[in-house]
Amino acid sequence: MKTLVKNFIGGKWVGAHAGRTFESRDPATGDVVGRCVDSGPEDIDNAAKAAAAAFEGWRRMPAPRRGEILFRVAERLLRDKETLARTVTREMGKVLAEGKGDVQEAIDMAYYMAAEGRRQFGQVIPSELPDKSAQCVREPVGVVGLITPWNFPIAIPSWKTFPALILGNTVVLKPSPETPVTAALFVKVLEDCGVPAGVVNLVLGRSPELGEALVRHPNVALISFTGSTATGGKVAVEAASRHKRVALEMGGKNAIVVMEDADLELAVDGITWSAFGTTGQRCTACSRLIVHKDVKERLSRMLLNRMGKLCVGNGLKPGIDIGPLVNHAQLEKVQQYIQVGQQEGARLVTGGKVLSGGEYAKGHFLAPTLFDHVRPTMRIAREEIFGPVLSMIEVKDLDEAVAINNDVEYGLSTAVYTRDINRAQRAIRDIRTALVYINAGTIGSEVHLPFGGMRRTGNGHREAGQASLDTFSEWKTIYVDYSGRLQRAQIDKE
Ligand code: UN1
Repeated sequence: MKTLVKNFIGGKWVGAHAGRTFESRDPATGDVVGRCVDSGPEDIDNAAKAAAAAFEGWRRMPAPRRGEILFRVAERLLRDKETLARTVTREMGKVLAEGKGDVQEAIDMAYYMAAEGRRQFGQVIPSELPDKSAQCVREPVGVVGLITPWNFPIAIPSWKTFPALILGNTVVLKPSPETPVTAALFVKVLEDCGVPAGVVNLVLGRSPELGEALVRHPNVALISFTGSTATGGKVAVEAASRHKRVALEMGGKNAIVVMEDADLELAVDGITWSAFGTTGQRCTACSRLIVHKDVKERLSRMLLNRMGKLCVGNGLKPGIDIGPLVNHAQLEKVQQYIQVGQQEGARLVTGGKVLSGGEYAKGHFLAPTLFDHVRPTMRIAREEIFGPVLSMIEVKDLDEAVAINNDVEYGLSTAVYTRDINRAQRAIRDIRTALVYINAGTIGSEVHLPFGGMRRTGNGHREAGQASLDTFSEWKTIYVDYSGRLQRAQIDKE
């Protein structure tokens, strides 16, 4: 993109206050994808004020009308799926098929939330007193600040923006500095489809001050954040001290459990997809393989064979399975974990190498990596790596597998491969993660079901599904007394 990518505030594409710019680069080639404005806290201030000014008009628009706008957004995203997906791949590196999946998730969410315009159910409940009615309706929270990561640069903004909008909130979106061009294209779709001025505002930039200014801004009533557990913790502290609502989606340390009766071919498919899809850069990525001792040898042979066939390269090219890591810092972080694993005594079975030279010369490529002899106490078995690194842990039975699975700080996603229905049911009962898959990998959530995590993955909120409506609204309870006399609840019982 040759033209400068700008902020979108109050319905206009505008420069940043300080006049600085930064470049978004393709992690596969180093090419510039776009030059963008580099904002400061003043720009957040303008965006939050614009969102506050637009709130009354938007909340009073009938929800079905808001839904019609979201329906148009869905249709437009569908029409532009291919071009949007190519931008996703160029900006953050995931292979094109996954880039399309990213856009599809936004399409699905737009259709889903469009329909919620005609389905914003409240509750009508009998009063305990005669001649008195009682009901509850959902109310928007106000201006919501959305802080989104680079690994799903369209899907995650859509998970937050569309439920927020259908409920009548207005939005300030602060996307990751790794994916500003994708974010601007997303917001342009909303503009083109008739979202009124000020209802969605976009602020681009690299400074951590942007997120801080958003959390602190007096006009912002709620923060929805997806990112690291460390940053999420800071957001929560800031928000709490200002009595703001905050919804957090953070790290994961997800496991696939393979029992001795599992269909091993199927398990290898699920492991490969979950551990190395998106180059392992998903919060739902599988980074622990907990395997029964009786099938460990066979499974690891089959997995190694499959890993040997994976093609690493530029995600825009056909036949590529694994793209680059998003940037140099991420590559270095993952390399450090590979060193840590070796120092701790795990055995590096394959991978662990940075790929360089030829087509890899200008990108951040790493060979898919497998560790064996991993103990549950090792750092590579406990900490989120966010790269194509899988740690294999041997167990003797399901109870041990579930105990190891649950004994980490995070609680996002677990998969179990078994053909035994009783075992599957016991695992479902005992696993302490908010997503559980049986005979499927750890990734693959659908937009109409709740998504989120237990323990340090989240703070009790869920995205997507009906649960997302709870995040972005609050209940108003209304009593109408038509008796014409004073009726005292709890007291006038006779
Ligand atoms: C994330 O990695 O931040 O099920 C979200 C999945 C995707 C969502 C991942 N639909 O893996």
